[in-house]
Amino acid sequence: MGHRVDSIVLISSFHFTVLALFCCNQLANGCDLFTGRWVYDPSYPLYNASACPFMEREFSCQQNGRRDLLYTRYRWQPSRCSVTRFDALNFLKSFRGKSIMFVGDSLSLNQWQSLACMLHSALPNATFNITTVADVSTFEFQGYGVKVMLDRNLFLVDVVKENIGRVLKLDSIEGGQLWKGIDLLIFNTWHWWNRRGPTQPWDFIEVGGVIKKDMDRMLAFETALRTWAAWVNANINPSKSRVFFQGISPSHYNASSWNEAKARSCLGQTQPLLSSSYPDGVPPALGVLKKVLNTVRKDVTLLDITMLSLLRKDGHPSIYGTGAANGMDCSHWCLAGVPDTWNEILYSLIV
Ligand SMILES: *[C@@H]1O[C@H](CO)[C@@H](O)[C@H](O)[C@H]1NC(C)=O
Ligand SMILES: *[C@@H]1O[C@H](CO)[C@@H](O)[C@H](O)[C@H]1NC(C)=O
Ligand SMILES: *[C@@H]1O[C@H](CO)[C@@H](O)[C@H](O)[C@H]1NC(C)=O
Ligand SMILES: *[C@@H]1O[C@H](CO)[C@@H](O)[C@H](O)[C@H]1NC(C)=O
Repeated sequence: MGHRVDSIVLISSFHFTVLALFCCNQLANGCDLFTGRWVYDPSYPLYNASACPFMEREFSCQQNGRRDLLYTRYRWQPSRCSVTRFDALNFLKSFRGKSIMFVGDSLSLNQWQSLACMLHSALPNATFNITTVADVSTFEFQGYGVKVMLDRNLFLVDVVKENIGRVLKLDSIEGGQLWKGIDLLIFNTWHWWNRRGPTQPWDFIEVGGVIKKDMDRMLAFETALRTWAAWVNANINPSKSRVFFQGISPSHYNASSWNEAKARSCLGQTQPLLSSSYPDGVPPALGVLKKVLNTVRKDVTLLDITMLSLLRKDGHPSIYGTGAANGMDCSHWCLAGVPDTWNEILYSLIV
């Protein structure tokens, strides 16, 4: 029970005592896959990133000049069991005739690309196509009948262009039309809720019929999640569709949060923290997400990747992402890398 006690202490110190009751409910065969530590394993990475022909430049750290490779050689080891090693052929067999869709921001893009590379590396000679129609990209192998899709959607709720400008509508989720009938859905939203200034992609917020210039962002996030939860309750047929929430993918801009005050954000980090907890604890947004997920009446599984990813201060592109000119990227993840583990855990939970 040691690890459970740890997480209860950790969580209550962040005033989410109530949530501790729900902290360990994402189990595969009775095992908590999200509590554990990173171990060196030279059989990783799962694929050669340079041979993945459709990799986005922002995740291609090696091609962008990153020389250290140790960060690609870690495997997530849960305390009491193991993550099932990814088997691409078995995955394709299980999903024959089915569709998988990641819905969310660029962290969903990160996980979608990871899964596509994991599949492609097992079938390097199979003909594939990637097509993009509006916000939806679809990766497909010819002859396998499996669609791996990405719906780029920053907030899950709608942003609508109106006369006054772009309105972020916390009670409106027309975008959900695209998610109906998909067999496996993996949602995510968080990173854009705190945007301000020129990169904030909306001008007004509408909630309960009232238009505002701005509001508390955590409350806006929670309100949107409740709208999403109502969509799930109304639209998911549990005998057809399985629903996951990707969880909060953490950033590493503040090195004090892992007690290395002298470091310059994630730049130059070559190894994970080898402990099973993070000095600064989990971001408060995770508490909000868990609170809302516990109100959903349909079965939704939290892919609770926050703590395991917090330990990976070494996994980000830093200056080896879209380029030093665009600054430091300690939000996304290099591929091969951490999102491959998210997908291995997803695989463990569904196969
Ligand atoms: C990875 O793929 C690239 C491009 O196909 C190739 O040149 C390289 O030798 C491969 N590396 C390994 C370690 O297999
Ligand atoms: C892919 O094709 C190449 C060249 O035809 C061949 O050498 C290689 O063994 C094939 N790989 C697989 C996994 O079938
Ligand atoms: C991929 O190619 C196959 C065969 O040509 C085609 O049936 C399918 O519609 C294509 N998929 C996409 C997403 O374009
Ligand atoms: C960085 O993290 C430390 C430790 O949690 C905190 O005290 C400090 O305020 C943070 N700095 C910034 C700029 O957020």
